[in-house]
Amino acid sequence: MAKSGQHGGNVLEIAEKYGLNVSDILDFSANINPLGMPDSLKQAIIGHLSLAERYPDIEYRQLHAALARHNACPQSWVLAGNGATELIFALVQQIKPEKAMLLVPGFAEYRRALERAGCEIVNYPLFEEEDFQPNERLLTALTDDLDCLFLCTPNNPTGQQPDKSLLQAIAAVCHQKQIALIVDESFIDFLPHETGMVPLLADYPNLYVLRSLTKFFAIPGLRLGYLLSANTAAVSQMRDYREPWTINAFAALAGEVILGDREYIQATHRWLAAEQRHLFNALNALPGLRVWRPAANYIFFHCLRDNLDLQKALLQHHILIRHCANYPGLTANHYRVAIKSPEDNVRLIRAMQQVFTDG
Ligand SMILES: Cc1ncc(COP(=O)(O)O)c(C=O)c1O
Repeated sequence: MAKSGQHGGNVLEIAEKYGLNVSDILDFSANINPLGMPDSLKQAIIGHLSLAERYPDIEYRQLHAALARHNACPQSWVLAGNGATELIFALVQQIKPEKAMLLVPGFAEYRRALERAGCEIVNYPLFEEEDFQPNERLLTALTDDLDCLFLCTPNNPTGQQPDKSLLQAIAAVCHQKQIALIVDESFIDFLPHETGMVPLLADYPNLYVLRSLTKFFAIPGLRLGYLLSANTAAVSQMRDYREPWTINAFAALAGEVILGDREYIQATHRWLAAEQRHLFNALNALPGLRVWRPAANYIFFHCLRDNLDLQKALLQHHILIRHCANYPGLTANHYRVAIKSPEDNVRLIRAMQQVFTDG
């Protein structure tokens, strides 16, 4: 499947299709922090514009030191990338799996990276009746012939965070069966105090944790992500093999500045605690919607009304939401919306109430 159409944020494409101006569309399809990029970063970039006139440090020493400090781990465990996306592809290239398991539904780029490497893919279905959550059954599905398993915690698009003890059991089985376990924690910073799988890294060299700064710090256009693993041989080989300078100077600077911006981090958690509850309760009150309680900054739901194209109906209100028809395992009636500012959320709620009353 082509890249375009697989992600949120395809406002340009939609605007063209429906004859609308991009600036007139309120985009709920991309899960980006509505507080916008931190002021600390704006000021740092403005103050360091001349960085663009030099090549960045090819080893990104300061950036890697900041990421290691933030995660209280050795620098040899860290590899920064041009978004988590670059590292998904680099990891698959490093591990060279012949057979990999994907949980379905899940983020599209794992499949693209595995397909590009000619890897056989085993789909492990998540069921709506089980809230799209994995359970102990997954442990027995992890057979010796698998080389790699991707997990996404919290999962995109369902917004569900698997149970911690299950994640620990999965890590133990993968270790025992020598299955590389890649855990994508791109949205985990939205869960206050959640450490994710980082505390397990020292015990499991087959474990690779991916993080992204693009969503939480609202810098998808700047792009920054990183990989953590105690498999220092693999990390160092990836460092040696990568193309040079894939992270631009301002993204590298961002990594050095924003992780220490406690004020922004706390403001984000305050906004999300309030708006997660507000938007969830409002959507949940609509008849004909099955809504899953979100762990992160987006809400997933199933529209149970036949013959209602909710994306199209909301575009009449100049609001774009993400339909999930192109996710294997989901249908055109599954949708995902970002949690945005209080005012924008109210606009979405009002528009949805109107669609449901009119329809
Ligand atoms: C689950 C998941 N992982 C990774 C990414 C890619 O993040 P980045 O912008 O850091 O490349 C996305 C982007 O939507 C995502 O949803």
